[in-house]
Amino acid sequence: MQKRFFLHAIALATVAFTATATLAQDNTFKIGLILPMTGQQATTGRQIEAAARLYMAQNGDTVAGKKIQLIVKDDTSLPDATRRLAQELVVNDKVNVLAGFGITPSALATAPIATQSKTPMVVMAAATSSITQASPYIVRTSFTLPQASVALADWAPKNGIKKVVTLVSDYGPGIDAEKYFKERLIFNGGQVTEALRVPLRGPDFAPFLQKVRDAKPDALFVFVPSGAGAAVMKQFAERGLDKAGIKLIGTGDVTDDDQLNDMGDVAVGVVTSHHYSAAHPSAMNKKFVEAFSKANKGLRPNFMAVGGYDGMRVIYEALKTSKGQGGGDALLAGMKGQIFESPRGKMFIDAQTRDVVQDIYLRKVEKKDGQLYNVEFDVIKDVKDPGKAK
Ligand code: PHB
Repeated sequence: MQKRFFLHAIALATVAFTATATLAQDNTFKIGLILPMTGQQATTGRQIEAAARLYMAQNGDTVAGKKIQLIVKDDTSLPDATRRLAQELVVNDKVNVLAGFGITPSALATAPIATQSKTPMVVMAAATSSITQASPYIVRTSFTLPQASVALADWAPKNGIKKVVTLVSDYGPGIDAEKYFKERLIFNGGQVTEALRVPLRGPDFAPFLQKVRDAKPDALFVFVPSGAGAAVMKQFAERGLDKAGIKLIGTGDVTDDDQLNDMGDVAVGVVTSHHYSAAHPSAMNKKFVEAFSKANKGLRPNFMAVGGYDGMRVIYEALKTSKGQGGGDALLAGMKGQIFESPRGKMFIDAQTRDVVQDIYLRKVEKKDGQLYNVEFDVIKDVKDPGKAK
């Protein structure tokens, strides 16, 4: 009798447990956010996670009747780890969306998982042009290197910069930056006299910068991923390139807002092109910077943060349009074609390419009230990724 009661109780408990689990599953919308939280790209992870949490704090954690659950995983920026974590998130956690992706190899390693499982994959950081072509389930809210580089190659020759040496990290985004900057500079009558590439992992810029000093170009064009800019800037000054009259120019990754304030006077006057500056003078951005800083002990948001914040917006709105029904395909459809105001300015997810179309700004580092900022002085409107035209 006692045994029967016991078994019955277990059965009931199991039913109750399964019911709760199913209910939780049905009412939960899971976002698997894979980021480099440690290692060389750790600032990217810290910025994007903070921005995603800010978006949730400001917009609530219930959307279309679903409770949003953010699952953050650290891939230490190793693509094998990214892929393994994505697989686990899809199979075990049954996430509705994959998001994050601090560097290009991590995004590319995960693309087949997105395709096979029909899971939308929101790339919030990685910026090699070809990424969106690696899976029809990829949507990007960051930027592309061709998008940012071309604007600077238009600006440079009009401003006395004809002879340039390029220095890029030797992988996807660096190769894109080198190629698109060079092609456009030549088109505009300038020349790239030398194209230098430094390893992504543990780079030592000193010997490369010595070469640049000897070559005496009008300017050095730099692409290094977010987090590496301060080291370049420091060694640029230590090798006396600024004193030798060589200008430093680059995509905005090098004067990253996360590090800019600590770079010192060598950064003042550096001209870069990019899609986001913490100093972007819009009401929306002022609010964003203030709220981000307040929630994160005074941290200034950089372009990675804005990619994360807008990525969350794209996910939330897609969930609203699909009313939480129809799975990955319906969600993806709701992401395509979104147009909205971001802290960076107006942005648009091109329904054909699933890539971001946005304004690119020319900016100069200036000191304001003792703080360094990328101050925007010109804008090219609605720039599509030039990499897609080929
Ligand atoms: C990339 O790996 O695609 C990447 C990383 C950091 C950047 C830009 C691109 O700042």
